[in-house]
Amino acid sequence: MAERIRVMLTEEEVDARIKEIGEQISRDYAGRQVHLVCVLKGGSFFMCELAKRITVPVSLDFMSVSSYGGDTKSSGVVKIVKDLDEPLKDKDVIVVEDIVDSGRTLSYLMELLGQREPGSMRLCTLLDKPDRRVVDVKVDYTGFEIPDEFVVGYGLDYDQRYRNLPYIGVVEFD
Ligand code: IMP
Ligand code: MG
Repeated sequence: MAERIRVMLTEEEVDARIKEIGEQISRDYAGRQVHLVCVLKGGSFFMCELAKRITVPVSLDFMSVSSYGGDTKSSGVVKIVKDLDEPLKDKDVIVVEDIVDSGRTLSYLMELLGQREPGSMRLCTLLDKPDRRVVDVKVDYTGFEIPDEFVVGYGLDYDQRYRNLPYIGVVEFD
């Protein structure tokens, strides 16, 4: 079966929006340092581009979680595969994700990280599929709200491929 990618958001649109979010975060955190927590692997491309657009001091950390069960549907049971290197205590944390879909992963993660007593904690996601929400999650910065379609690119994968696309696309099968 041949696969094609239909472009949903161009490289220019994504880059322009990330620049806007970076400027917004720089204003919101004026005079402070932000600690960006990247959820691997999907959040990595977004976090790198976002960090480049933030003008207040930035520190970074990474964690990796996996959901048990199917690969395109989140089961809601989340396992920490790689934990953060540093404590969050008293830091102004922004969790950076590629996409909020059902909300299960983020709701679990925000609860877990909140127990580490950050000074503050917000959530920033490149994409949000509000129609798919099962668990309520407060998103503070959203790149784009998108319809209920399975997307790839800019860190998002289909069977581990397409993360490197510099735009957001939908996989179509002939
Ligand atoms: P959740 O359903 O909000 O818990 O999302 C869990 C994870 O599913 C996300 O962090 C992504 O890794 C993955 N995911 C959800 N929707 C998509 C999509 O459209 N494309 C690629 N991965 C997705
Ligand atoms: Mg993810």
